[in-house]
Amino acid sequence: MQTAHAPITSFSATDIQGIRAAILDWYDANRRELPWRAADGTAADPYHVWLSEIMLQQTTVPAVKGYFANFLERWPSVYALAAAPIDDVMHAWAGLGYYARARNLHKCAQQIVQDHSGTFPDGLAELRALPGVGDYTAAAIAAIAFGQPAAPVDANIERVVSRLAAITEPVSPAKTMVRKVAAALEPRERPGDWAQALMDLGSSICTSRSPKCLLCPAVAWCQAQAGSSPEALPVKPPKAARPLRTGLVYWLERPDGAILLRKRPSKGMLGGLWEFPSTGWDEHTAPPTEPEFERLATDWQVQPGKIAHAFTHFEVELQVQTAQARPGINIPDGTLWSTRSGLSDLALPTLMKKVAKAVG
Ligand code: ADE
Repeated sequence: MQTAHAPITSFSATDIQGIRAAILDWYDANRRELPWRAADGTAADPYHVWLSEIMLQQTTVPAVKGYFANFLERWPSVYALAAAPIDDVMHAWAGLGYYARARNLHKCAQQIVQDHSGTFPDGLAELRALPGVGDYTAAAIAAIAFGQPAAPVDANIERVVSRLAAITEPVSPAKTMVRKVAAALEPRERPGDWAQALMDLGSSICTSRSPKCLLCPAVAWCQAQAGSSPEALPVKPPKAARPLRTGLVYWLERPDGAILLRKRPSKGMLGGLWEFPSTGWDEHTAPPTEPEFERLATDWQVQPGKIAHAFTHFEVELQVQTAQARPGINIPDGTLWSTRSGLSDLALPTLMKKVAKAVG
């Protein structure tokens, strides 16, 4: 006996054709000019697509544009990036966050040169095997750079698809459903433009709050709009509260104005970046100290106010102490003195830039 398969969406084949045509026409008239996008009708450069997709993970388009331009100017090809010293790459990345991405970016460039003769592979499995390339990024590169029907799903696409098909289960269990619907809607022709059309639609019209449904090319098919609750979708599980961690920063100055910095271990959070020495960041109950740095001066002055910063899984508040270094002290391994103007030559995470600004 034959088993009947339930359709993936309740859209008919005619609806799907209509949705595809309406969204692609809208894209042709309204596409954003983005520095990594190929001009209309031309092929995208896989190096540009890959670089932009890695930068755009967890970050917004406006935040990425300047970094993308700077990277391309310094390293116009994957060969140039692969040959760059890792410290230069980390420095150029500083401020974009999630620094493991920069390490993987560099590793990936080296793998492309060594194992793939400098050419990005076009297959999903080979792309997925590259450092820093997950399911979404592999699918985005396959679709945008190579025209493969890979149906990437980022947060914008997830929102558009969840609303179009009125997927009301919370996103975690519904992820598979969203992917299936996204794949069913994706046209065989122009899958790269299709993906970018959904991204643009999600960022400008089908926004999280106050979507502009009147301007949406797909409103006639949108099942969430028909049910009058597009803002309610996608349903996200409640966010876990972020714990507050605290710490103490030692801002130590030499009489000539140089400041003590140390390099963070290459593995782990903010790996390989520079920081002003500090205690661990923890949910301390008593004021923390770090004797290795405390002993370098006697006149520590607690600065007013705290430096606050939010990471993905916790928030941190740092108290800053400043002091003049004792003359002739030996500084701990892994630290160095930098002039104030030399700070801009070091890869400092945003949190440490905030510390420098506050003390400065
Ligand atoms: N977000 C992630 N990738 C993107 C792209 N190619 N265009 C616009 N926004 C994006």
